[in-house]
Amino acid sequence: MIVTIANPKGGTGKTTLVRALSGTAAHAGNNVFLIDADSRANTMRWVTMSKQMEIWPELLEAESCLDPNQIYKLALRKLHEGKIVFVDVEGTTNETLFAGLYRADIVLIPLQTTQDDVVADAARVEPCFGG
Ligand SMILES: Nc1ncnc2c1ncn2[C@@H]1O[C@H](COP(=O)(O)OP(=O)(O)O)[C@@H](O)[C@H]1O
Ligand SMILES: [Mg+2]
Repeated sequence: MIVTIANPKGGTGKTTLVRALSGTAAHAGNNVFLIDADSRANTMRWVTMSKQMEIWPELLEAESCLDPNQIYKLALRKLHEGKIVFVDVEGTTNETLFAGLYRADIVLIPLQTTQDDVVADAARVEPCFGG
């Protein structure tokens, strides 16, 4: 299974979700492969820190991959090795986003809202109540 966590907007919780899901799946006894397809490499920073703290799960492997032509190929290769694959893509609309979505079985879209989103939504809805 290939699970891609995507939202073309940054800061919505993609990396947080990918860390929780991949870590939990590995702790539960699954072989898990995590692809960090974001040039900001927040996932790889978490990998380094977890390894330094010696809390990295044995069944979890992670790699950075920023080449759109390689992202889905790497995901498929690891899938065929029997792993659950998670892909953390960049919060931008670019080729790495499309590469992450291309062969995904499941796409999770975290939607962390900000106060601005809520205000924008209220402004849009208000005329309906008036009419
Ligand atoms: N469910 C949540 N509730 C509150 N804060 C969250 C939640 N998920 C993520 N965050 C925080 O939001 C910020 C952005 O999260 P991150 O996972 O890095 O987003 P992304 O990968 O989409 O850019 C981080 O500071 C993170 O701790
Ligand atoms: Mg991120």
